Amino acid sequence: MNSLRLMLSKDKVAYLYSDCPVEEAMKLFTESGYGSVPVIEDNGIYAGIVCDKDFLKCYTSDDLRKNISTLKLKDIITNKRSYAINVYTKIDDVLLLSMHQNFLPVIDDEGIFIGIITRKAIIEFLTEKNDSFGSVEQLPALSNQHNIEKMMIAIENETTGYKMFFKMYETAMREVRTRLETINEFLTYKYNRRPLHHIEYRIKSMKSIVGKLEKKNLPLSIKSIRENLFDIAGVRAICAYLNDVYEFAGYLEMQQDIRLIKSKDYIKHPKENGYRSLHLIVEIPVNFLEARQGLPVEIQLRTDPMDYWASLEHDLKYKPIRNFNGTDISSQLVECSCELAETEKKMQNLARLIGCNEDVADDSWQKSWV
Ligand code: GTP
Ligand code: MG
Repeated sequence: MNSLRLMLSKDKVAYLYSDCPVEEAMKLFTESGYGSVPVIEDNGIYAGIVCDKDFLKCYTSDDLRKNISTLKLKDIITNKRSYAINVYTKIDDVLLLSMHQNFLPVIDDEGIFIGIITRKAIIEFLTEKNDSFGSVEQLPALSNQHNIEKMMIAIENETTGYKMFFKMYETAMREVRTRLETINEFLTYKYNRRPLHHIEYRIKSMKSIVGKLEKKNLPLSIKSIRENLFDIAGVRAICAYLNDVYEFAGYLEMQQDIRLIKSKDYIKHPKENGYRSLHLIVEIPVNFLEARQGLPVEIQLRTDPMDYWASLEHDLKYKPIRNFNGTDISSQLVECSCELAETEKKMQNLARLIGCNEDVADDSWQKSWV
């Protein structure tokens, strides 16, 4: 589950503009009764949080006090780097970050302020008994919570910052999504049908990052993350037919700036439990303000039936039942997977017969454009 579900949207939240005169802001602040309020720029970009302490500081410094009538909020907020989160932030990371602030500002991909998550909303979520989007059991066990916090501090201090660290992976993830969508646009035109049904994506949570390092007995360090974890950014593309899966993989690999680090073909070689999908780990260059860096992204390509099987199997993993009224669930799942694979082959042959993979695009416009 991502954080959006807990968010109180901007229209329901008190916030101030960074150009607001300090004296005016102080009045509004005392009227609202809040201890801290988000601050945004004119264009909606999140600027930070102003809290009661920032106002008091204006009176402890002679310089600030003298000029108080001309000061704007942007001159006094010190809290610019406070942890703003985005819609990709996982609930367990939200919980950890909330230890440091009363509320967490939520921003979109462009840095626009879109709302906040309060500690109250998090507590409500923790006490809610709603299995459909996760439960308290999925939150970090206290034993590795300490390691998670240590890792978060290391990321904050040893990289360009916690937010930036994940932002880089988000950018790589978005880049891969765009590449897949572009391939889809052209193939749609070529075949006159849409080979890509939908795309899912996620950023690995801090809990999973630390959990995976711990499970593999790897050091909890930035170096270790960079050398061992290639699935911090993940994109899953769900295609119509088997051929589409390989065609997408082929076109991606063909792109000159994408480097294939590893591929695992669980379609040709399904896992023992019946899991099928094509996994690629690729490195894709991302351009930041001044730098360019290659970052790994895990891409899972699969068909609708493979996806539908994997979702059921994933859900069953968290259920204690292995045997139900004499039915061995694991062997039934393997059977389903084989049946689906057979059906998919038949469907692919039928699709071929009716020309689903034939070029139907009228490219005369390209030929005449010389
Ligand atoms: P992880 O430690 O889980 O990341 O596995 P790995 O590094 O050995 O990589 P692998 O390519 O085998 O699996 C990566 C991802 O594929 C998993 O995180 C799942 O999303 C998916 N996956 C792999 N195996 C299974 C499976 O048996 N069932 C389901 N439902 N998903 C799977
Ligand atoms: Mg994984």
